[in-house]
Amino acid sequence: MPRDRDVAAFAKRAGGYEEGWLGRLHHEIADRSADLALAPVPAPRRVARFQAGAAEHLPEPDGAFDLVVSTTSFDHWADQQSGLRECARVMAPGGRLVLVGQFSPLYLPTLIGSRRGKARTRRRATRLLIRAGFRSPEWHALYAVIIGAVTASR
Ligand SMILES: C[S@@+](CC[C@H](N)C(=O)[O-])C[C@H]1O[C@@H](n2cnc3c(N)ncnc32)[C@H](O)[C@@H]1O
Repeated sequence: MPRDRDVAAFAKRAGGYEEGWLGRLHHEIADRSADLALAPVPAPRRVARFQAGAAEHLPEPDGAFDLVVSTTSFDHWADQQSGLRECARVMAPGGRLVLVGQFSPLYLPTLIGSRRGKARTRRRATRLLIRAGFRSPEWHALYAVIIGAVTASR
């Protein structure tokens, strides 16, 4: 299975991604993620331009960012541990990570199926974060019971 299978699948859906009830759901999650990310820094001085890339190989130098935000992408990363290590690498010491995704006990049944190796619970994701070098993970409910968020320091 190609490592970027999910990227290709989402690229096909991109045209209609913001349409309908699902589009409104995506917006709502993105807005709440932005609120969470900006809570401690309401007026950031600089925001990088968006750039396409895989989480496992971020095209950025070490220590480049004070804030890294990921919304509902983590579950699709082919190698979640490598992706989090990359997030840690591109962040400056003291920087903040906001990771929003499918974290819920409701996903437990899926962990014995096709999503077996995924960090879909707080416990699994916390373990990967600590291994990647993050400190003080704090969990937040973000959307209903299905989408959670964790903030952590570099
Ligand atoms: C559910 S969409 C979320 C899109 C957007 N972040 C949002 O909040 O609406 C999942 C996204 O994860 C991306 N993705 C899949 N694998 C990835 C990877 N290894 N690294 C980075 N992004 C990945 C897909 O291309 C897709 O854009």
